Amino acid sequence: MRIFITGGSGLLGTKIAEIALERGYEVYIGYCHNKPEFGETVKFDLAKDTDLEVIYKIKPEIIIHTAALTNVDECEVNKELAYKINAEGTKRVAEITRGLGAFLVYVSTDYVFSGEKGKYKEDDEPHPVNYYGYTKLMGEGYCDCIARPCVIYGAKPASGKVNFALWLIETLKDSKKVEIVTDQFITPTLNTNLAKMLLEIAEQGLKGIFHLTGATRISRYDFALRIANKFGLNEDLVIPSRMEEMKWIAARPKDSSLDTSKASKYLKEKPYDLDKALDVLKEEMENA
Ligand SMILES: NC(=O)c1ccc[n+]([C@@H]2O[C@H](COP(=O)([O-])OP(=O)(O)OC[C@H]3O[C@@H](n4cnc5c(N)ncnc54)[C@H](OP(=O)(O)O)[C@@H]3O)[C@@H](O)[C@H]2O)c1
Repeated sequence: MRIFITGGSGLLGTKIAEIALERGYEVYIGYCHNKPEFGETVKFDLAKDTDLEVIYKIKPEIIIHTAALTNVDECEVNKELAYKINAEGTKRVAEITRGLGAFLVYVSTDYVFSGEKGKYKEDDEPHPVNYYGYTKLMGEGYCDCIARPCVIYGAKPASGKVNFALWLIETLKDSKKVEIVTDQFITPTLNTNLAKMLLEIAEQGLKGIFHLTGATRISRYDFALRIANKFGLNEDLVIPSRMEEMKWIAARPKDSSLDTSKASKYLKEKPYDLDKALDVLKEEMENA
């Protein structure tokens, strides 16, 4: 099986590539600025139409499209670029997939929802509150298979960044205080669990929308406490804060937790509850 992963240098894409290689696939790892240190890498820029022609040459049977402008505040400020990468880039990837007769899995986001309700199901009406969410929703319009994760975390830095869990662990280890919001609710997603669910969807050629997050709905503050507790760090350093105190440029949904019952029903790889996910994270960090 030949598989092309866009965003292969990112938090999610790296993990998909790692697992796909373990499974013996022929893997092509797309990146833009941060060249991955393993596998067959392919440099391209989603903002440049002609760069994507490289996918035609590789002729993958599966494309997992994770690449995006993921910085929510940057999308709000640089709307033109966000639209070009997240909406038009996805349109182009979908066109190429159709041209090749390949199967495309598009990784969207929980941020397509307003966050007024929480525990969103696949058939709930999207209503993004920021431009990032809007551009990702536009991308959904071009794809038959859509996966929506929420707050992805994992054992290693990727794409030149640390994720929330790693940042928290490093900061608490330095005995520094962190302010974390108590009024924002999420279903945090371990990249390993997500990568396995995505590969299963691609292998089975399943179409439609799938909410692929962890199974536990939790506030960001309680998520931080659970991480601190699992890693034996000082929970007193986690200071409660409120969303209105954050200096965010773009609006954030208050409760973008997703209901994972569809994924639980149809997939062999089930969404992990938080305890299991943190156990796997710890093990991966110890073996890194
Ligand atoms: N992280 C989350 O909490 C979260 C939550 C919900 C949904 N998602 C969605 O999940 C997907 C993966 O997220 P992630 O956290 O793994 O992202 P990430 O770590 O920020 O990585 C983004 C990836 O996109 C690539 N990329 C960015 N601009 C590009 C461009 N112009 N052309 C080609 N590639 C480009 C980056 O390549 P370089 O680094 O090489 O430039 C990198 O590989 C995204 O689609 C995101 O919208 C993420």
